[in-house]
Amino acid sequence: MFMRHLIRAILLSITLLLVAPAQAQQSVSATSPDGSIALTVGVNGEGRPSYSISRNGAVLLAPSRLGFLFTDALALDRGLAIESHSETSVDTRWEQPWGERRFVRDHHNELLVVLREGADAHRRIAVRFRLFDDGVGFRYEFLDQAGWGTVHIQDELTEFNIVPHGTAWWITGGDWNRYEQIYQHTEIDAVSTAHTPITMRLDDGTHLAFHEAALVDYAAMWFRRVDGQRFKATLSPSSTAARVTRAAPFTTPWRSIRIASNAAGLVESDLELNLNEPNRLGDVSWVRPYKYIGIWWDMHLDNWSWASGARHGATTEHTRRYIDFAAAHGFRGVLVEGWNVGWDGNWFGHGDEYSFTQPYRDFDIEGLAAYGRARGVRLIGHHETGGNIANYESQLEDAMALYERLGIDSVKTGYVADAGGIISRNAAGALAMEWHDGQVMSRHHLNVVETAARHHVMVNPHEPIKDTGLRRTYPNWVAREGARGMEYDAWGEPGNDVDHIPTLVYTRMLSGPMDYTPGVLSLQGRGGRPISSTLARQLALYLTIYSPIQMAADRIENLERFPNELAFISAVPTDWEDSRLIDGAVGDYALFRRKDRNSADWYVGGVTDGDARDFDVALDFLPVGQRYRMTIYRDGPDADYRTANRGQIVIEERIVTSTSRVALHMAPGGGVAVRLTPAGRVRR
Ligand code: NOJ
Ligand code: CA
Repeated sequence: MFMRHLIRAILLSITLLLVAPAQAQQSVSATSPDGSIALTVGVNGEGRPSYSISRNGAVLLAPSRLGFLFTDALALDRGLAIESHSETSVDTRWEQPWGERRFVRDHHNELLVVLREGADAHRRIAVRFRLFDDGVGFRYEFLDQAGWGTVHIQDELTEFNIVPHGTAWWITGGDWNRYEQIYQHTEIDAVSTAHTPITMRLDDGTHLAFHEAALVDYAAMWFRRVDGQRFKATLSPSSTAARVTRAAPFTTPWRSIRIASNAAGLVESDLELNLNEPNRLGDVSWVRPYKYIGIWWDMHLDNWSWASGARHGATTEHTRRYIDFAAAHGFRGVLVEGWNVGWDGNWFGHGDEYSFTQPYRDFDIEGLAAYGRARGVRLIGHHETGGNIANYESQLEDAMALYERLGIDSVKTGYVADAGGIISRNAAGALAMEWHDGQVMSRHHLNVVETAARHHVMVNPHEPIKDTGLRRTYPNWVAREGARGMEYDAWGEPGNDVDHIPTLVYTRMLSGPMDYTPGVLSLQGRGGRPISSTLARQLALYLTIYSPIQMAADRIENLERFPNELAFISAVPTDWEDSRLIDGAVGDYALFRRKDRNSADWYVGGVTDGDARDFDVALDFLPVGQRYRMTIYRDGPDADYRTANRGQIVIEERIVTSTSRVALHMAPGGGVAVRLTPAGRVRR
């Protein structure tokens, strides 16, 4: 018996020796600028490369493998050796054309590791790591080399082998409703396959968020749990066997890991923006943050239709009224959906009848664009595709040229189709069904953004690919949907519950601006059904969910019933000098302070979940010696999202200085919004 085992063991090691020629273990290390985050990249005796990460001496990620599977070549994951490595450091500051903050510091140490296959393969691949004090990014670089022209990636083998115990907030990768899901909060070892960003809180309070940056011409990464707390990247599918097809040399998107001591550190990190390339569009002074209203909520309430006929929403007469309202209340934009031919059939997941240049007969696009321009109001274009990018791309150039000619300088696009239901044509002209976040769509979105940029048009896709910080490179990519937005509160099947916003802040919002469409002041969905919100919360959303474009989503007949709240929405900026999280906990609440980029005004605001909360906020961020007029919009003493008092709001004003403190109350399902405007110098 013993002999049999011994012989088998000897045979096994001989086989292993034959398959994997003995190699010296090798490793190289680097740290973040302040030394808190340490990385080791190593190759084991079988030549399998891996990386590990620790923070303040504690291991966060145990050795996690690196590599690829291909459809037409052997896997690249063993038999490798470190050929060379090099290190560099960067400490710079760059300016955003718009954003949550004006200046972003990029301070990191970089480690570039070149791996080479031994034996008879000799393929080379590099992995570039960047270590920041608030996280790590790394990407693969397929190097220029003989015999490696077109690369067909079947899947990525990148692992994330998390050591400390914790819980996670996540949505399912690959489910039918794309990113429009209610977030789950589970133990890390109960996650299945998640989209990114996926956020985790470890037992010692450390916060992690796994995501990616610069998703260009590549498939999105899903975060698949293998066992325990070990995850593996898997790429969004493709209609072809290879999920990614690229000509070498090329680089993959960055895999990013935000690492912070608390929720604020997670929210305030600029990791993915720093990993993206600088602005490629040159002068982007034509990209302007704005607020807008739209022929929209009435459709979601089912009062009006996108389709032509008696209930058609996008009529010349309706649009004039919206333009007049926008002009009177300082909204720059009026979104009009259902303006173009193609809405009358089954457009959901089909989209083959859409024209992006032909308006319905009762919509005078030329006259309305001019009517708006004369009043300082721009129409906002709408391109719903029904997921049919083949049809859209064939008209894209003409569609954007039309908008440019009419002075329509932004467009909301849409891809309403279930996951996997994108209709495209491959190089041979044949039908090819794709995923919303596959390589084809990453290419498509950039094609739209670049075409739009040539025509000076800003882009805001719904049912989009996830945000990976590409707004830095393409600043006309101003916002997107990519989560359950306000529309779910119109439909109410079910609507967004009170945990949704304080979860989005720490998950979806880590990726970039969201066109959530707040401002339903009536607090009512279809058939008058109440939505899970107080009135003050609707104002607070403008300070909680960041976007450079913000809608006041309610129908104008409702908005005008709330003159004080409407005045707040008219005033609130959408472009900030700086934004900080004063206090917050994932899934529970968030309270921000933000400084207007174009005035001396400050704002404080946030939301809670189903629990009432009270805050005592020091106003020590205000400039010393300056008096400020503070207007507070807060939940009334009896306000509660579950009762008829959800609309109870208290608006109060007082003069404060940098030494003042303010008590802020949030009701269950509530929120608070505070505006601070200069009111002269402090008198001595
Ligand atoms: C879904 C979008 O999220 C919504 O805003 C839009 O009104 C419809 N699609 C129709 O395009
Ligand atoms: Ca949607």
